Amino acid sequence: MYEIILVLHSYWAYLAILILVLATINSLIKFFGKKEFHAKDLRISLFTLIVSHIQLLLGLVLYFVSPRFQLWSESGMGGIMKDSINRLYLVEHPLINIIAIILITIGYSKHKKKSTSSSKFKILSIFYAIALVLLLSRIPWDVWPN
Ligand code: HEM
Repeated sequence: MYEIILVLHSYWAYLAILILVLATINSLIKFFGKKEFHAKDLRISLFTLIVSHIQLLLGLVLYFVSPRFQLWSESGMGGIMKDSINRLYLVEHPLINIIAIILITIGYSKHKKKSTSSSKFKILSIFYAIALVLLLSRIPWDVWPN
């Protein structure tokens, strides 16, 4: 179970990062280029939302089936926070990525309520770009991509 979810979470991460990069660049270019918001732009932002939510679900399952999870009872909060690798996997990576996905969700729902193309692209640019920076800041780069 653990290995399967780890592989799924590891490969789905390529898609999640790629589509978020694309959606962020797309909205930034179109915001500064003063372009019209088309159905294609809605599809890119929606696809980003869906893909990131699937990654979140995989991450949540992985969290509880990972052998590392037992460290909560074995070492406690103090022990986990003292070790940078365990802190990354058990605290920073999940927490920061949940915040990033909340930002994607807020950005997506806020942009839908805006009436002008410019304000839609502005909201998407801000929320998706912050989410991307957060997400990239807490990827375990020493083991991924491998
Ligand atoms: C878009 C968001 C996310 C991305 C791009 C992402 C990406 C990754 C990557 C690339 C790895 C390394 C996989 C490997 O070792 O091959 C990983 C590990 C892990 N992720 Fe995520 N993740 C995301 C969100 C989450 C969330 C929200 C959680 C938990 C709530 C989570 C839990 C974990 C855990 C527990 C591991 C370590 C598993 C282990 O080695 O035992 N991830 N993640």
